[in-house]
Amino acid sequence: MISDSEYIPPLLAAHRPLLRVRRSLLPAHSVRCSSVNELRILISREQIAARVCEMATQITADFKDRQVLFVGVLKGAAVFLTDLVRQVQLDASYDFIGVSSYGNPRGPKQENVWDSTGEVRLTKDVEHSLRDQNVVLVEDILDTGLTLSFLKRLLLSHQPRRFCVAVLLDKPSRRKLAINADYVGFTISDEFVVGYGLDYGEKFRNLPDIRVMPGVTGNGS
Ligand code: IMP
Ligand code: MG
Repeated sequence: MISDSEYIPPLLAAHRPLLRVRRSLLPAHSVRCSSVNELRILISREQIAARVCEMATQITADFKDRQVLFVGVLKGAAVFLTDLVRQVQLDASYDFIGVSSYGNPRGPKQENVWDSTGEVRLTKDVEHSLRDQNVVLVEDILDTGLTLSFLKRLLLSHQPRRFCVAVLLDKPSRRKLAINADYVGFTISDEFVVGYGLDYGEKFRNLPDIRVMPGVTGNGS
């Protein structure tokens, strides 16, 4: 007979090796962390749903009666974008853009340090033309600002009619470039978070709540 605290659903059990490998890297307070369920919830699925709804209402009002193209940044923003576009009451369409940061090996191989190097490259371009379109760039998290600055410069060169940025999370304390989003879901402190599209070494994107990954820090470079 397995007790409630021992039971790990099959999907979550898949994450267990990762947590085991990393245990030696974790600070003392998190050594007890033995399953995804023990990662502290920072923002619950209910809070996310309510805030996404508020953001959609605001975007609907701001773009009243206009066509809008939402451009999600792969892969992290996919979950947020699909929830957001289903809440806006606009003539909307969506597309995705992919970027990757050179030498930005977030995840277990990089031990417990992660950061952006500043070299961002395009891995997938948008399929729609942005010229004369009302474009909302949708990103999971605004951290150092390197990714968003790169994307903003790139997308503005397509000459959209109107361009703005919606991020689910903002970590202003980590900013390296002066850039802000027009719509922000939640402002958070300098903690590494996973879930609702956000990953750690490609894991945890499918968690419905946003949870804190203990022991992961930026290197401040
Ligand atoms: P930036 O270029 O430093 O602003 O980083 C933006 C990207 O870094 C985001 O799109 C995320 O993919 C990733 N990122 C930053 N902070 C976190 C985090 O706490 N958890 C997961 N991914 C993060
Ligand atoms: Mg991202």
